[in-house]
Amino acid sequence: MIASPNMKSFFILFVVILTCINSIVNCHYIPSSHAKNSIDACKEIHDKFLQTNATNSTTWEEVAACYRSFPYDSEVAKETIETLRGFLSAFYAFFDEAKEEPKPGFTFRPVDLAVELDRLLENKYEVEFDFYTDVKSVINALSDAHTQLTGNCYESFLFDQGLSLYSIIRDGKQIIKVFNDSVDPSNINCEVVSIDGLPALDVINKFALDQVGLTKDLGVRFNLALASLSLSRGVLQASDFSGLFTSRQQLPPTPYISYTLNCSGDWLKQVNRRWTVGATRAVLTNFTDSVSYRKQFCVKFNNSTDKNTNANSVTKSAVHTHRSKREIDVPSLSEGELIVDAIIASFYVVRDVGVAVISTIDTSTLDQTQMEVVYTNLYEGFQSFAKRKIKKVVLDLSNNGGGTVEVSQYIALLLFPDIIPSFPLDMRLSDLYRLAIKTASVIPSPVPEFPFDYHGYIRAENEQNFTSVQQFFGNNMFTRGGIQNNYSSKFFINYESELRKNLESVQGSNPSPLNWTRDNIIILTNGFCGSACANLAQILAEKKQIKTVAVGGLLSQNQLSYASFPGGFKLDSGDVFSLLNDVGLNHSSNSLVPNDFSLSMSASAAGSEVYSSVHNTMVMEFEFKPSDFRLFYDEKSARDPSILWMQAAELIGK
Ligand SMILES: *[C@@H]1O[C@H](CO)[C@@H](O)[C@H](O)[C@H]1NC(C)=O
Ligand SMILES: *[C@@H]1O[C@H](CO)[C@@H](O)[C@H](O)[C@H]1NC(C)=O
Ligand SMILES: *[C@@H]1O[C@H](CO)[C@@H](O)[C@H](O)[C@H]1NC(C)=O
Ligand SMILES: *[C@@H]1O[C@H](CO)[C@@H](O)[C@H](O)[C@H]1NC(C)=O
Ligand SMILES: *[C@@H]1O[C@H](CO)[C@@H](O)[C@H](O)[C@H]1NC(C)=O
Ligand SMILES: *[C@@H]1O[C@H](CO)[C@@H](O)[C@H](O)[C@H]1NC(C)=O
Ligand SMILES: *[C@@H]1O[C@H](CO)[C@@H](O)[C@H](O)[C@H]1NC(C)=O
Ligand SMILES: *[C@@H]1O[C@H](CO)[C@@H](O)[C@H](O)[C@H]1NC(C)=O
Ligand SMILES: *[C@@H]1O[C@H](CO)[C@@H](O)[C@H](O)[C@H]1NC(C)=O
Ligand SMILES: *[C@@H]1O[C@H](CO)[C@@H](O)[C@H](O)[C@H]1NC(C)=O
Ligand SMILES: *[C@@H]1O[C@H](CO)[C@@H](O)[C@H](O)[C@H]1NC(C)=O
Repeated sequence: MIASPNMKSFFILFVVILTCINSIVNCHYIPSSHAKNSIDACKEIHDKFLQTNATNSTTWEEVAACYRSFPYDSEVAKETIETLRGFLSAFYAFFDEAKEEPKPGFTFRPVDLAVELDRLLENKYEVEFDFYTDVKSVINALSDAHTQLTGNCYESFLFDQGLSLYSIIRDGKQIIKVFNDSVDPSNINCEVVSIDGLPALDVINKFALDQVGLTKDLGVRFNLALASLSLSRGVLQASDFSGLFTSRQQLPPTPYISYTLNCSGDWLKQVNRRWTVGATRAVLTNFTDSVSYRKQFCVKFNNSTDKNTNANSVTKSAVHTHRSKREIDVPSLSEGELIVDAIIASFYVVRDVGVAVISTIDTSTLDQTQMEVVYTNLYEGFQSFAKRKIKKVVLDLSNNGGGTVEVSQYIALLLFPDIIPSFPLDMRLSDLYRLAIKTASVIPSPVPEFPFDYHGYIRAENEQNFTSVQQFFGNNMFTRGGIQNNYSSKFFINYESELRKNLESVQGSNPSPLNWTRDNIIILTNGFCGSACANLAQILAEKKQIKTVAVGGLLSQNQLSYASFPGGFKLDSGDVFSLLNDVGLNHSSNSLVPNDFSLSMSASAAGSEVYSSVHNTMVMEFEFKPSDFRLFYDEKSARDPSILWMQAAELIGK
């Protein structure tokens, strides 16, 4: 037995990037044909789909008109805000800390959620879309990938430019270039001089500042706006990721973007590129007009059976389809040999350097057999470096949105069996969080019910079980954002004994220690190593002083984070309401419990704080942790990760 059978993916801190693309505020819409008369724009989308049978046959104008066809209802808006505010004030660990100014190195604005959300209700909206967009932009301003709002109604369609961008430094100056263009490949590698008439770098920078959200470091957001490659299973995936600037899930503010390109040197080329608009068949076959669109994608069913099968799953599949892996041949990897494939990770040898590319920690889609491969081959991968007497190892954690915390802890233990592979956590004990924990802990269950049953946690101070719920609650008062709150005792999520068992089982009776130190290993990321990935990177950096190198970001900023949104764990509103209901807590039985959303949307929130293991008052989420070393992309290394690996390997021991 290798993987624990009751392995939970509740610590999934995984982020489907497209679900997190953020809102456009102050949009100026070009009036659509819809405004002229009372054509049903949603019906037009459906009719065109029927005629062409193509999932990309609609236009920006039609989707804009369909989205804008639903009038604002102040009662529904009020309920939506009550639910969202109720959920976040009860379970969002950083509800108060979000009001604080960022520490130097970070770029985000302080957000007083209660005030900002309530204030939206004073606006006179005409259409619900504008209200939704504004709510989303408040949540987006938190710059926390764990804390998001998603709704099917206004996120069913995907908008793509058919091209992607990247950034290099040339003659000491940062410029934007075309990474790929599926419409006109002759644009590839042209310099983008301006976008919609403004300097290209400024436009991408502003997009990163206002729209990307997800992480508190502007340089990492800049990287996310642009294309980047990632490697896994021995193939380059054109990163299923063409960058958030050119591939969006929220309605862009204009129907096209114009680019001024310098391709030849002598003259400038003007490209006006309309958005290609697509949706999955599951979306397009499930409505015929705005009435059925509304029913299918916008309003939550009041029937719990329906709730599980309704449009929520449709949006997920839309995202996955759009991001389906575009696998391309390895020629872009100019050197290196794949020696072990561990599904979520690939182990390469490039000359005398071992490279472990861990491109995700999300194992939620893997079955038991695949999990055994993951555990065994992660071990084999590192062992085969040792067997080849490799003395330099690069851990490439770029584009890793996190996943299951057990797996990140396992990787940390593989490398360093002597560490506790976890940071201490605590919870901000709102009245409802406290009540939920109290109620859940007296209900006997064979497996602790995450997140509310404290039996799933152990005491951070001595790794013993908590002996009572009072002991778990503890007696901690902290002031964050000017507000004093109760916080739980510090705890670890209790996986370690399970993981050590897995480790012993893959190692057999004759474990061969790896003996690596900071003189052999370096961590390479593009800053987007989030959540469980951030925990892994930061634990190695803190507990073993492993050096880090971050690539990309803004030249104007001296430093770049090597990890993002360390957390704690993510709670989803749908799961929370259903768990609460399971222990008899709902809006009708207890007024502390908010109603679930009546619109078809859900929210998520970081449900705990994570502390440094060295500085016991340092909340990792709000600490700027720059990398030790910095690299920038050039034309070659943007397309060939092996170049970055060798550059990172050069820095080992420095
Ligand atoms: C429409 O396209 C889908 C997928 O390509 C195909 O399976 C289906 O048969 C097509 N339907 C018609 C009527 O052509
Ligand atoms: C729509 O998809 C089809 C088939 O994948 C493709 O041939 C066509 O170019 C696409 N149209 C647009 C506008 O992108
Ligand atoms: C560029 O786009 C084309 C067409 O979509 C695709 O086949 C190719 O794999 C892409 N190349 C890279 C490096 O992303
Ligand atoms: C295009 O870029 C090249 C290289 O930087 C530069 O020498 C040239 O003047 C630019 N062309 C135009 C028309 O701006
Ligand atoms: C959407 O349509 C498909 C058929 O194309 C159907 O299988 C699926 O159940 C529908 N989904 C919903 C939520 O109605
Ligand atoms: C909820 O369901 C009941 C019966 O199933 C129906 O009469 C009622 O209209 C539904 N309410 C909403 C808001 O859909
Ligand atoms: C709830 O939804 C299920 C599945 O769609 C359906 O079979 C059932 O009749 C519905 N119940 C009510 C009360 O509407
Ligand atoms: C690790 O150190 C032990 C004891 O010093 C030694 O026997 C073993 O060969 C070393 N392993 C590697 C992979 O260097
Ligand atoms: C802690 O609790 C678990 C069950 O939740 C039990 O299996 C384990 O033996 C306990 N450990 C100690 C040291 O009491
Ligand atoms: C903290 O908890 C105590 C009881 O343990 C309670 O009296 C007090 O009101 C709580 N403070 C806050 C700010 O919730
Ligand atoms: C709310 O909880 C009570 C028990 O606490 C239960 O009887 C009732 O059915 C629940 N209501 C709903 C709508 O689930």
